Amino acid sequence: MQHDYPTPAHGTRVVVSPAKVVLGSGAITELGDYVELYGRKALVVATQQIFDIHGDRVLETLQESGIETAVYTDVRPDPTISNIEDAYELWRMEDCDVIVTLGGGSSIDTGKAVGVLANNSGSIRDFAVDKAGYEGVPNPTPPLIAVNTTAGTGSEATRSIVVTDDEASTKFLIVSQNVVPDVAIEDPELTLSLPQSHTAFTGIDALTHAIEAFVSVKSYSVSDDYARAAIRRIADSFPKAWANGDDVEARTEMMIGQLQAGQAFTNSSVALVHGMARPLGAQLHIPHGLANALILPYVMEFSAMAAPEKYAEIARLFDVASETDADRVAAKKASDAVLELCTDVNLSSYLDEFGEVPDRETYLDIVPKMAQDAVESGSPDNNPRKPTKAEIEDLFVTIYDDALAPDSTRRTSGSS
Ligand SMILES: [Fe+2]
Repeated sequence: MQHDYPTPAHGTRVVVSPAKVVLGSGAITELGDYVELYGRKALVVATQQIFDIHGDRVLETLQESGIETAVYTDVRPDPTISNIEDAYELWRMEDCDVIVTLGGGSSIDTGKAVGVLANNSGSIRDFAVDKAGYEGVPNPTPPLIAVNTTAGTGSEATRSIVVTDDEASTKFLIVSQNVVPDVAIEDPELTLSLPQSHTAFTGIDALTHAIEAFVSVKSYSVSDDYARAAIRRIADSFPKAWANGDDVEARTEMMIGQLQAGQAFTNSSVALVHGMARPLGAQLHIPHGLANALILPYVMEFSAMAAPEKYAEIARLFDVASETDADRVAAKKASDAVLELCTDVNLSSYLDEFGEVPDRETYLDIVPKMAQDAVESGSPDNNPRKPTKAEIEDLFVTIYDDALAPDSTRRTSGSS
C-alpha cells in the first residue's frame, strides 16, 4: 500500500477536529453540562425557524445548569456581514462568555464569526482568505459549542466560515484553526424534523465535501480515511434518510457521515465544485447544497482523468464498480453514480421551489463573473484537474443546458 504521509520535506499537517463530539440520540440534554465547563453566560445563535423548533429544549438544559442566556435568532440561511455584526453587538452588550450555536452551517458560521470579532480587532471582512490568507485569524474564538441540527455542512468540525457579502452578491471564506468549535453536540433526533428538501440539500453538501476532500491535491492519508468512511456511509444512508425522515438509524448514519465529511475537507480542502457553487448560489439565490448537486456530476466527469485511482475508488465505494475493473474504467462510473443519487433524491425538482433561474441569455451574461469569482476563491486550485477560467465558463454553460434550463434533461427526469 502506498502511503502519503506529511514529511519534513513537504511540511507537517495540523489535523483539526472539535475537542469533544457528543454523539447520539438525546445528546441535546447534555448541552448544559458542557456549557457549564466553559462559561456562565451563553450567547445562543440560531435562525428563528430552528429556534422555534428546538429553542425550548436548549434553554431548558442551560437553565438546569445555571447558565444565563442571551438569544440571537436573526441568522439568515446564508449569514451576512450584518447578521454577524448584530450578533456580536449582542454578545458585547450582554457580556457573554460562551457561544452556543443551534442549527446547521449558517448558525455555526455566524457563531464562529462572532467569536472572531470577540477576540480579534477588525471587521469580519478583514479576516477573509483573499485579504488575510489562510490562518488569518490571530486569536482563538471564545469557547464555542455547536448544537448541530442538520446533516450537513460539517461546520461544527471545520476551520472555515462562509459569509455572504450581500452588497456585492458574493461569498467570502475565512479559514483558521482558531475557529474550530470546542464541542459538537450531534443528536440525530434533532434532524428528524428536517424537511425532505433540506435533507436533500444538506446530504448532497456532505457528499460533496467528502468527494472533494478525497480528490483534492491537498488530500493525504488522514483526510482520505475520513473521506472514505463518509462516502460509504452517505452513499448508503442518504436515500434512506431522504425517503423516510423518521428512520433514526439512517439519520444517525448521515450525522456521522457528514461529521466525517467535515473532518475530511477541513483537513484536506474543498475544490472546484465549491469554487463554482458559491457564485452560482449567490447569483441564483439557491441553497448551497442544491448548487453543489447541480455542479458535482459535471466537475467529477471533467476531473476524473487527472486522478483515475481516486475516482475509481469512489465508484467502488458506491458499489458501481468492482476491484477487477481497471481504474480508468471504474473512474468513469463515479460521476454517473452521483448523478443517479441526485435523481433518486429528486434534487433538480427543488429548483421549481427554491431557484430563481434566469433565461439562458441573462445567465450567459453572468457566467464570466461567476467563473472569475470561482477562480478568485482559490478552491479550483485544489482540483486534481486544474481548470482554466474558460473551462469553468464552459462547465457553467453545460450545467445550465443540462440541469438548470426548465426543459433540461435533469429537470425533466426526476424520480417521481
Ligand atoms: Fe459545502
